Amino acid sequence: MNSLPVEYDGAIDTLFINANLATMAGREPYGRMHEAALAVSRGKIVWLGESKGLPPALLSAAKTVEDVDGHWITPGLIDCHTHIVWGGTRADEFEKRLTGVSYAQIAREGGGILSTVKATRKASPDDLFSDASRRLASLMTEGVTTVEIKSGYGLDLNTEVKMLEVAHRLGVELEADVVPTFLGAHALPPEYKGRSDDYIDFICREVLPVVAKKNLAEFVDAFCETIGFTADQTHRVFTAAGRLGLGVKLHAEQLSDQGGAELAARFGACSADHLEYLSEKGARAMAAAGTVAVLLPGAFYYLGETRKPPVDRIRELRIPIAISTDCNPGSSPVGSILTIMNMACTLLDLTPEEALAGVTRHAAKALGIGDSKGTLSVGKQADLAVWDIASPAELAYGVGFNPCLGVIYRGKKVMSRSATGV
Ligand code: NIG
Ligand code: FE
Repeated sequence: MNSLPVEYDGAIDTLFINANLATMAGREPYGRMHEAALAVSRGKIVWLGESKGLPPALLSAAKTVEDVDGHWITPGLIDCHTHIVWGGTRADEFEKRLTGVSYAQIAREGGGILSTVKATRKASPDDLFSDASRRLASLMTEGVTTVEIKSGYGLDLNTEVKMLEVAHRLGVELEADVVPTFLGAHALPPEYKGRSDDYIDFICREVLPVVAKKNLAEFVDAFCETIGFTADQTHRVFTAAGRLGLGVKLHAEQLSDQGGAELAARFGACSADHLEYLSEKGARAMAAAGTVAVLLPGAFYYLGETRKPPVDRIRELRIPIAISTDCNPGSSPVGSILTIMNMACTLLDLTPEEALAGVTRHAAKALGIGDSKGTLSVGKQADLAVWDIASPAELAYGVGFNPCLGVIYRGKKVMSRSATGV
């Protein structure tokens, strides 16, 4: 683990010393390493280990030495399921739900996702960008360095493309990596009312090829639900995605069991997300396919769900669990990954260590980027978060205190709040 990889050529850009590392790799809880150092060269981690084993050559080769003063370093956090690009607001719907009208009922009456579609179609790319950058900035102040962003509030060619272009621009202009996902099969747009199969045809024949040709998405997602699309329709979307070489993931089993998780697994999906109604068959299929279970406690909380995803069974089957904000204007208007870690523990019974793995190692796997991100390991991208905490469990313990002292993205400091400057 502590050896120098081949790409190390003598130049160490930054050497972090006097750190506690939660590497999220190895056998120790949290992959803990005390009194440790970590060396970065050309945006990658090239050495880490206990300070006493630090090769003297590394210390003298370091252009900058940062004394972390005993604080904790974790991998940069990964929010693997968001819808942060949207127009308008749904605060009125929030009020309505509090009087007893359900999320599904609002959707059936043409509100919910469709009201955001109306506002997103009208919004300019600049407005979408500036609203989404504020949301992303809020995640970044809590250590997020990678975020997945879905389309799905356009449901026509131009607006879907507009959303994905905004997502790309966020990755270019802000100091975080963006993984874009096409979610054309999110809801049925009003112009296709009563013709959902035609809409699926339109997505598969006219929208997906453009998205693929312009290289706008890495994944294709769908909302497989009574108020979304059937398993058959999802099957057609996934088949088209596969032909274009795009990966898949799925909003599955959120409000009912539609067999979505099993379908996703059959297509080799990186993840199936929500999963409150996950069946035994679906869980076994996910385990066999290596599909990550992405749990979304924000939506569970906002919608006042009482049925929890079968976490014990997911654990028994050794399905990796990721967690995410699901940041969106309807079911989870949440811009705090740390709050989500807390909710994953308090609402869905995860341990604090599982919660941290859920926004690091397993979130990377849910996005198919486990080789380059998600743990502090030699060869991985140097995305780090520095924390003023006494132990890693504190990340899931409090709400609203944000102990993040600094964020390092691709080896460069992008945020710093501490006296030591790290
Ligand atoms: O993940 N379930 C569907 N999609 C989103 C909700 C989107 C919305 O309500 O605007 C979700 O919860
Ligand atoms: Fe979602």
